[in-house]
Amino acid sequence: MAAWLAREGYPIYAWHGQSVEDFYWCIDKTIDAKPTLTLDDGADLIFRVHDARTDALEGVIGGTEETTTGVHRLRAMGEAGQLKYPVIAVNDAITKWDFDNVHGTGQSTLDGILRSTSVLFAGKTFVIAGYGHCGKGLANRARGMGSNVIITEIDPLAALKAHMDGFRVMKMDEAAVVGDIFCTATGMVDVLVARHFESMKDGAIISNTGHYDCEINIEDLEGLATSVRTIRTDNEEFTLADGRRIYLLARGRLVNLAAAEGHPSEVMDMSFANQFLSLCRLAAEGEGYDNLVYDISHQQDSELAALKLSAEGKGLDVLTAEQKSYHEDFSHGT
Ligand SMILES: NC(=O)c1ccc[n+]([C@@H]2O[C@H](COP(=O)([O-])OP(=O)(O)OC[C@H]3O[C@@H](n4cnc5c(N)ncnc54)[C@H](O)[C@@H]3O)[C@@H](O)[C@H]2O)c1
Repeated sequence: MAAWLAREGYPIYAWHGQSVEDFYWCIDKTIDAKPTLTLDDGADLIFRVHDARTDALEGVIGGTEETTTGVHRLRAMGEAGQLKYPVIAVNDAITKWDFDNVHGTGQSTLDGILRSTSVLFAGKTFVIAGYGHCGKGLANRARGMGSNVIITEIDPLAALKAHMDGFRVMKMDEAAVVGDIFCTATGMVDVLVARHFESMKDGAIISNTGHYDCEINIEDLEGLATSVRTIRTDNEEFTLADGRRIYLLARGRLVNLAAAEGHPSEVMDMSFANQFLSLCRLAAEGEGYDNLVYDISHQQDSELAALKLSAEGKGLDVLTAEQKSYHEDFSHGT
């Protein structure tokens, strides 16, 4: 999409392998355009407009947010009265998180781990932290590749689902000892820390597909290591004092984006359609909205799902009048 926009003459500020300074330079250049609508993937643009670049706040009608973590934070800001313009939670659309997060992240995360390690998944113990949308998608794919999958969770409902979906569920302290491959998918900080690295097997591979590079505590790992060397692109070997080696992928950044190509466009199309339709909604109605986070309507989700199905050439049954009446009329008995 960025390449297409650039070709059409829109300014694009992005490249692979950015530093943190580069990242904020790109955001500031985007803000210099004085946007009336903001479209975000991680909410950094929104946070910047609320913080270091409040000069751009005035003209903004509203914004959209693509990610789970971004939406969590924006909801908290809205509830605390700190959000300065309305935001639509694109992430929480069914046509986004049940597809992009599950299928897109699930597939591309395995791709990123493969490209940076060339490991055989079959027979490996694959530990996944978080059984939300991304974790679930990844767990099912890792199982399909022959891995023995362990889930760690903090939410009893998610943990119970994982258990009844046939995965082993345990604390990370226990999983750290037996895992061959680890991937965090939580949106939380410090999911893997020093005490976990201390108990891992020689050769353990650790990666993240959740939020930025904070789920694996890299400082802890560096503190334990006596030497570090890059053994192939996006794969660093940390040797600990007792000789054990731990392989960190993509510096703990999202392995599917840093070490592979991210989600296929065939699943991002629905996410981007949700972004576009939400911006249209904000342009038309946003000025009447409160400064809160709004959901995507069920109607938008249904229409998008129907469009996607028809694009894939799939038919859909339609209720007859009798079926509709049976469904809706409370005077019917059984
Ligand atoms: N890699 C990508 O391209 C990509 C795509 C979409 C979302 N994400 C990011 O992935 C993360 C997860 O997204 P999601 O949609 O699956 O969210 P989700 O809310 O559906 O699932 C997250 C799960 O992690 C669990 N969790 C939280 N802290 C934990 C901990 N310390 N240990 C174990 N489990 C823990 C939660 O209970 C929850 O079940 C978010 O940060 C999101 O922004 C990444």
